[in-house]
Amino acid sequence: MTAHETHRIPGTPQGTIRIPLMKSTYFREEETREALIAFLRSTNRLSMGEQCGAFEKAFASKQKRKYAVMVGNGSQANLVLIQALLNTGRLKREDRVGISSLTWPTNVMPILQLGMLPVAIDCETTSMNVSSRQLEPHLDGIRAFFATNVLGFCADMDRIRALCRERDVLLIEDNCESLGSVHAGTLLGNFGLASTFSFFVGHHLSTIEGGMICTDDEELWHMLIMIRAHGWDRNLPPAAQEAVRKRHGIDPFCAKYAFYELAYNARPTEISGFLGMHQLPMLEETLVQRERNFKRFHAATKEREDAYHTMDVTHMDRVANFAMPIVCREAKLYERLLQAFVDAGVEIRPIIAGDMTQHPFYRKYVPTPEPCPTASFIHAQGLYFPNHPELTDEEVEMMCNLLRQAR
Ligand SMILES: Cc1ncc(COP(=O)(O)O)c(C=O)c1O
Repeated sequence: MTAHETHRIPGTPQGTIRIPLMKSTYFREEETREALIAFLRSTNRLSMGEQCGAFEKAFASKQKRKYAVMVGNGSQANLVLIQALLNTGRLKREDRVGISSLTWPTNVMPILQLGMLPVAIDCETTSMNVSSRQLEPHLDGIRAFFATNVLGFCADMDRIRALCRERDVLLIEDNCESLGSVHAGTLLGNFGLASTFSFFVGHHLSTIEGGMICTDDEELWHMLIMIRAHGWDRNLPPAAQEAVRKRHGIDPFCAKYAFYELAYNARPTEISGFLGMHQLPMLEETLVQRERNFKRFHAATKEREDAYHTMDVTHMDRVANFAMPIVCREAKLYERLLQAFVDAGVEIRPIIAGDMTQHPFYRKYVPTPEPCPTASFIHAQGLYFPNHPELTDEEVEMMCNLLRQAR
């Protein structure tokens, strides 16, 4: 039996949901809707333009990175980034790329789609992430490691960064779930060459759909810009545009429709850019609230170390968690906890996509994956429940009590 088959939510589909994973589309829903309506009335441009550009600049500054490229969603951010690494020769077809066993499918899919081989690396129950201990034995066999920072947590990324540098392994981060988390004085997403972000509803910052790629590397930045839009030079800064035209002998007229690199159309709209600009100043407030909730949930799990594998966050300066994971030591308790959350009307899910190697798409392309026993265990005996800024004190307390009282 695979861990998938053990994932039974008693009484599925879940009955009345009283505490959903997210209550609204954006933070300060009404105010944001009004602002969006006013924007729609006032603008005559909705395709990618000034708002997206302004959001990129503001986001890069907030994330403390030189460059940010906005795309349609986090999945496109991953695809565009992997394509950019291929186009710049940093990765090659048939390279082996390490991935976190516990991740989201569109983290792994671009690696397969673009002709590389993912190597799943197991994670720790105390961090939900790949640690340096687990990464080290794989370092000789991989060209790059695409780390996923799961649900606001990380393992010892400072050590992972040092190991990757020493062993000439390219480090990139899927930070779609961890905007705002800090470890060793550094924002997650700033440990590797580049990182990706998602602004889907329910994440730390919502633009309905939206994604970003951040880097400090200028060559990569230019490549990302071209790959986001058809492979042309139109959105490059003027000097880079001139350089690419000169290199290929393209005159300004032909440049309108000259295509230099393998690319996509992954452009966001001005609606997402506008929402990004509107929500970004509120990010800190949402992070503070989520952190407060997380601390209460975490303390409740610590009271029941007999029942749960609790998270170790002693190495983290800030945990930007948007859904609280819980892993039960015993299968029986897991079944009862699941039932308790369902009965209380709390929306729950498996811990992100669980063990990636067990998904049918993965098995189709990697029939005999590396065993990932911890990810498999988390898949079988883990769930997550809501942590968002609109939870009331009573709702947080009620969920803490579910954790405390499960027997
Ligand atoms: C780790 C991770 N990577 C990538 C994505 C994809 O982001 P999006 O839903 O914006 O496409 C998600 C989605 O939540 C995710 O959790």
